[in-house]
Amino acid sequence: MPHSTSKDMIHIIGTGSYLPEQIMTNQELERLVETSDEWITTRTGIKERRIADKTEAASDLAIQAAKKAITDARIQSDQIELIVVATATPDMFFPSTACFVQKGLGIKNAVAFDVSAACSGFLFALTTVKALLESGPYKTALVIGTEKLSSITDWKDRGTCILFGDGAGAAVLQKQNGMQGILSTYIGTDATQTDILDVPGGGSRNPQKEAAIHMEGKEVFKFAVLKMIFATKEALQLAGKRESDLALLIPHQANLRIIEAIAERVQLPRDRIFVNLQKYGNMSAATTIVALDEARREGRVKKGDLVELVAFGAGLTWGAAMIQF
Ligand SMILES: CC(C)(COP(=O)(O)OP(=O)(O)OC[C@H]1O[C@@H](n2cnc3c(N)ncnc32)[C@H](O)[C@@H]1OP(=O)(O)O)[C@@H](O)C(=O)NCCC(=O)NCCS
Repeated sequence: MPHSTSKDMIHIIGTGSYLPEQIMTNQELERLVETSDEWITTRTGIKERRIADKTEAASDLAIQAAKKAITDARIQSDQIELIVVATATPDMFFPSTACFVQKGLGIKNAVAFDVSAACSGFLFALTTVKALLESGPYKTALVIGTEKLSSITDWKDRGTCILFGDGAGAAVLQKQNGMQGILSTYIGTDATQTDILDVPGGGSRNPQKEAAIHMEGKEVFKFAVLKMIFATKEALQLAGKRESDLALLIPHQANLRIIEAIAERVQLPRDRIFVNLQKYGNMSAATTIVALDEARREGRVKKGDLVELVAFGAGLTWGAAMIQF
């Protein structure tokens, strides 16, 4: 009997990213809060971050990233049937940021909606879109992580303002026959600690209070290490792979010390772990997809390579995805 295992798989056929031009260095932060480049560098690894222009909203960053992903995928934008945006900093309460992206790209026949899972948002969006492509009539989708975190940053809080930045990343997903593509995804939430990382103001709970990030850094740190190791291993297991099979692990870029703790536990050499947080800080839902795009552009993702994305965030949430290119 002929041995055939070829089936419909969801492939990432293009990626793109957009980072606002304006760079804010640690030295500039020294002028805003009582901190130092030395403290930020040794405690986080971050050297600078990007800040979007006043006129730019999350959808504007997303549209730029999406255009690059569409070009990279060599498709026409009207082939896109599904647009899912992960963001914690939507343009407004409604319409969804995905609708503004659809409008900006001039796509007429697509379904567009947002996913909210803070820094794990891109992994939640990827999981949702993978399932819709597998089960529905859709063939081609756009998945985006975009953030203008500078709009909800408390620039007087040195515990948080040093960590975050703005940016957007996009991926074009397509259902194709073959053996490669997204092999597995794994997502989870634990809602017992909704208050250690949140934006308590601005929503329907506290509409009069200013929307600003609040964080218990140490608690979040412990959770991040634990859950990112857990998610990394779960997605590997679901795909029937081992750590040693990984060509590249792309972890959420929140803190270099978190990444180093994960590297130690998953026993991967440093050159198989992607790090770009020194340039951008934590861009929440945009982080892992910007990093994947950069890794591809730097030639660090070759045909056949097994790449894993892993993230954690407010909720608390976590997620991972195994992708064979
Ligand atoms: C925020 C974080 C960098 C703080 O590092 P830390 O080693 O835990 O530092 P601490 O909060 O214990 O603070 C240590 C000291 O530095 C001070 N400090 C805090 N921020 C500072 C800053 N930007 N510059 C200088 N000193 C600072 C604190 O006030 C404290 O001083 P004290 O000892 O006199 O009280 C770290 O906890 C972290 O990265 N947590 C995870 C955050 C995260 O990933 N968030 C995103 C989730 S998606």
